[in-house]
Amino acid sequence: MPYMKAGKTDDEVFEENKQASQQHAEDFPKPKKTKREKLVEDDHAPLIYDPQYILMVNRLKKYFPIKGGMISKTVGHVKAVDGVSFNLKRGTTMGLVGESGCGKTTLGRVILRLSGEKTAGQVLFNGQEVYDLSPKEMRAMRTKMQIIFQDPFSSLSPRLPVGEIIGEAVREHGIVSSAEFDDYIDGVMDNCGLQPFHKDRYPHEFSGGQRQRICIARALALNPEFVVCDEPVSALDVSIQAQIINLLRELQEKYKLTYLFISHDLSVVEHISDSVGVMYLGNLVEYGSTENIFSRPLHPYTEALFSAIPVPDPDAKMNRIILKGSIPSPANPPKGCKFHTRCEKCMEICKYAAPEWTEVEQGHFCACHLYNDAAADQRAAQAMEAAKREGVAPEKEEEAL
Ligand SMILES: Nc1ncnc2c1ncn2[C@@H]1O[C@H](COP(=O)(O)OP(=O)(O)O)[C@@H](O)[C@H]1O
Ligand code: SF4
Ligand SMILES: [Mg+2]
Repeated sequence: MPYMKAGKTDDEVFEENKQASQQHAEDFPKPKKTKREKLVEDDHAPLIYDPQYILMVNRLKKYFPIKGGMISKTVGHVKAVDGVSFNLKRGTTMGLVGESGCGKTTLGRVILRLSGEKTAGQVLFNGQEVYDLSPKEMRAMRTKMQIIFQDPFSSLSPRLPVGEIIGEAVREHGIVSSAEFDDYIDGVMDNCGLQPFHKDRYPHEFSGGQRQRICIARALALNPEFVVCDEPVSALDVSIQAQIINLLRELQEKYKLTYLFISHDLSVVEHISDSVGVMYLGNLVEYGSTENIFSRPLHPYTEALFSAIPVPDPDAKMNRIILKGSIPSPANPPKGCKFHTRCEKCMEICKYAAPEWTEVEQGHFCACHLYNDAAADQRAAQAMEAAKREGVAPEKEEEAL
């Protein structure tokens, strides 16, 4: 029905209404478009790819939000990985050690992009930033980067027979043609010490060690280049542990695999690793060749950790260093050196200034003020003065337990 308003036409009435509504809209302030702020700024110079390294990690950070209150607001962050850097050579094994809760699993998962977005830093796999890949590219990359977990039982579907568990992703990613499929799976199982008749059995029919073999076969079937082994033998009997470690070493040699081997068992790490990273509260505190780390540990935390390794000689005296207190919360880590609340060698500067990541000898890195050069000493002294001017109070040292 046509509008009848003071003899105006429909078009004139529409135009009038449009102008009026525009005027009203201008009376209300427009909501500001706020850009989502980054939690932390990337504070690193970009990496330059060096082809001898399959993996290059640069100042990698992963913070998990802590939710609180009625409307589940973010009230803080768990700094699970807080600026980790290392380079891993192709075909070698890096051991990663540290107390429970220091961020080892998170670091492994963040490298594989299995934990949502990173908070900051870089992960270059074969020179490619993992976090720049499209979903399609990431799917292809998944076959190259695999993970083996501590608990083989919970990571295996109880409803699928073993052949299907190992073959499912092989089929999905088209690793081999359907004509070759059965022989291929038999071959992978054989390499991992499993028999062809195991294919039709279910995970609950196997022992812990065999279940871990199934997990290894599942990862290996995708033809990976890099495998994160997250405490792969911690849940197994000691006698079985050696078999699985030997299997991992054989497969590494055969397929030129690179491992990131996470474990709290230092003897296992010494046995399998070419290099070792020691982690404390989200940071690497020391990194170097296995030989250097075990024979000349630099960082007081590494010294304390290694002093607890049992010595086979009953006459040898163990100089065990007892760490004071418990590991602080990664949601509220101590200022300055994060280890200062438990360190026997803590100095005044350690309470205010974070130590720099320094190459103390070739390929042997450490973050501790004891190994600063003159320039780093000066920067630390300036940081301490600035912190004191701002009234930063040092944390109280924890009582020994
Ligand atoms: N998904 C998550 N959400 C919140 N906090 C997490 C999550 N995963 C791990 N954390 C926290 O991050 C810290 C490091 O955990 P984790 O990487 O599992 O240590 P580790 O493997 O060395 O025992 C712990 O304080 C843990 O509670
Ligand atoms: S920086 Fe200081 S507190 Fe930290 S490990 Fe070194 S000596 Fe100990
Ligand atoms: Mg873990």
